[in-house]
Amino acid sequence: PTILYQDQFLSRDQGKVDMEDRGYQFGDGIYEAIRVYGGRLFLLDLHMKRLERSARELRLQLPYSIDHLTDNLRTLIAKNQIDDGLVYFQITRGAAPRQHLFPEETESVLTGSAISLSREDALRPDGIKASLIDDIRWLRCDIKTLNLLGNVLAKQKAHEQGSEEAILHRGDTVTEGSSCNVFIVKEGRLITHPADHFILNGITRLFVLDLAERLDIPVQERLFSTEELLSADEVFITSTGAEVKPVVQIGDQLIAGGRPGVIAGRLMDAFDKEVT
Ligand code: PDD
Repeated sequence: PTILYQDQFLSRDQGKVDMEDRGYQFGDGIYEAIRVYGGRLFLLDLHMKRLERSARELRLQLPYSIDHLTDNLRTLIAKNQIDDGLVYFQITRGAAPRQHLFPEETESVLTGSAISLSREDALRPDGIKASLIDDIRWLRCDIKTLNLLGNVLAKQKAHEQGSEEAILHRGDTVTEGSSCNVFIVKEGRLITHPADHFILNGITRLFVLDLAERLDIPVQERLFSTEELLSADEVFITSTGAEVKPVVQIGDQLIAGGRPGVIAGRLMDAFDKEVT
């Protein structure tokens, strides 16, 4: 595979990271994962807006303009001959002798890759099992940083319980998934956590909120409890890779008898129409 390193296209084994890169030592960096459908970057502008916001919040300098970065991502897709796939890239604060304070002068370091991912492999229309896991992350989950240890530990715990995803809760409140956003349906109404510091404002989340409006499905962005989650008419998760994925079991509890719901189905159909 061809990877992106700064402004260069290299073969995967030519990519080198400095051992004192702050991304490596501190998780001091940001990333995006963008879906590719038919060779084209999906919802690109929203991802780039979020990237710029993440950079601002961490006072991290983007090494290239968004236009230039976009050109490079398109070249990366072409060089790897990606039709349906996923582009991942990250930007760290660069390399400097290890100390916590921002170094006075470093050059941000960008690395990126592109992989094929068929929708058939990524989607799970019959639904998945999830586990409820304590959300132990920091209080700025709205920033898409490389610090994902809380997410990693949660997903691993869920996996060891035979689940595909961890649904996180702070006290009684459901926040999001370890790598996705969470929606429930109650009496025909979509409910999802508001976009504040406790969740990442997913691009797929935003897209699904937009689809819901177009389909006249009422939406409430509000806190909801673990109790509401477990007694919901439907539960589904959203993310760049998974699109809309029904959750039909949480721990031992079946959701709606273990079958994907009607509203999730309508959203999956609408999503499908937008991307094929
Ligand atoms: N994860 N919440 C968290 C904590 C996430 O890591 C993600 C995405 C989302 C959904 O965001 P989006 O719809 O923009 O993909 C929500 C990515 C895909 C990842 O880390 O691989």
